[in-house]
Amino acid sequence: MPDTDLLMLQRDHIKTLQARYQASLAEHGYDGLLISSGASPLQYGDDQGWAFQGYGPFLHWTGLAGFEHAWLLIRPGHKPLLSLYQPVDFWHATLELTPEPWHEDIELTYRDHRAAPEVEGVSKLAVIGDPNLLSGLPGTHNPEALCAALDETRVHKTPYEIACLAKANVLAVAGHRAARDAFLAGASEFDINLAYQQATRQREADAPYHSIIGINEHAGTLHYQYYDTATPLKSRSLLIDAGVRYRGYCSDITRTTAGVEEGRFAALVHGLEQLQFRLCDMVAPGVEYVDIHRRTHQGIAALLNAAGLVTGLSDEEMVEEGITRAFFPHGIGHFLGAQVHDVAGKLVPPPADAPFLRLTRTLEPGMVVTIEPGLYFIPSLLEPILGGPLGQHLNRERLEVLQGCGGIRIEDNVVVTEAGNRNLTREAES
Ligand code: GLY
Ligand code: MN
Ligand code: MN
Repeated sequence: MPDTDLLMLQRDHIKTLQARYQASLAEHGYDGLLISSGASPLQYGDDQGWAFQGYGPFLHWTGLAGFEHAWLLIRPGHKPLLSLYQPVDFWHATLELTPEPWHEDIELTYRDHRAAPEVEGVSKLAVIGDPNLLSGLPGTHNPEALCAALDETRVHKTPYEIACLAKANVLAVAGHRAARDAFLAGASEFDINLAYQQATRQREADAPYHSIIGINEHAGTLHYQYYDTATPLKSRSLLIDAGVRYRGYCSDITRTTAGVEEGRFAALVHGLEQLQFRLCDMVAPGVEYVDIHRRTHQGIAALLNAAGLVTGLSDEEMVEEGITRAFFPHGIGHFLGAQVHDVAGKLVPPPADAPFLRLTRTLEPGMVVTIEPGLYFIPSLLEPILGGPLGQHLNRERLEVLQGCGGIRIEDNVVVTEAGNRNLTREAES
């Protein structure tokens, strides 16, 4: 049972959403909004469904990630109407809502069919959700400008949302500890995944994303998606990127652990972590997120130089020549919330030197971001440099040894506060 403070914060959260949604609806000329929770489609040619996780705006209001075919009706001046699908079904269980204080702030109904509830007293209705579930419904479906405005209501997290994100970090940190211990005890990727699920009390289908658990070379595939059941002959490194969903809100944490006798790799992990601390410290109101990304490239250059992996070039030259990009090919992070890659991060597209950056905004209090620098040894990115005119500056021999460790990523979840920042992940670890 969540603590009383959290439950009270949730009631404030709903009041805040009432005001934010009311303003957005008025601005775009609507007096009613119907939100679909979504539903898992069946796999093509089969009777099996995909794992289900609810639609972002529905989660924003309710936090209920597992309720398919539910609907939420928002009308200014009325309590939100939450309509849950509860069929008589002897094949499947139907989820029950445990009574909680926020139910006083909504009207709750149950239906035994999937159709949306009747909407009365609304002259201009918007309906949002998976278009496959909206056919035949009245109103304007997924109007672009309104959807963008509703995304914007999710950018500045309420105290309730920050409390949920903090708890999602606490839960995930327990999993990361168990995963590290399992790795150091010689577990396989598969068994590390089990240790993570055991410690977080969360099955993988309910996690915000498929955990990334890579030992050795696998750590160098950014979104490595398999689990080897066998332990390699020598476990040299572990990269685990895994989160937890708590009341709809996600954590997204990455840790990298060096195996025993991997002094050179361990030194790089330490160096990247020192850089990651400095990058987290940059998080503050008024800071351009893209500047944190660019600072990362400078830090990676310094690290490559200090480790003797790239020599004879200045840090600036390493960045300008695209060498740091080969070692750190992704963006420094993204917004985090009810979706792991939360919405509204790119009001403007990313600049040419950061094509994969998912967040290009100026930081403001209430935003929650990830800070996730990486340093990888990816053959397909390094070979073109090694084989070109800049290859002379790279220490091929040392890189070949490190390729067996795959790479490093260190990722924390950080809130922008009035005074600077609050690092939810380090706080959970302390
Ligand atoms: N877990 C995916 C990411 O870090 O963005
Ligand atoms: Mn991650
Ligand atoms: Mn991330």
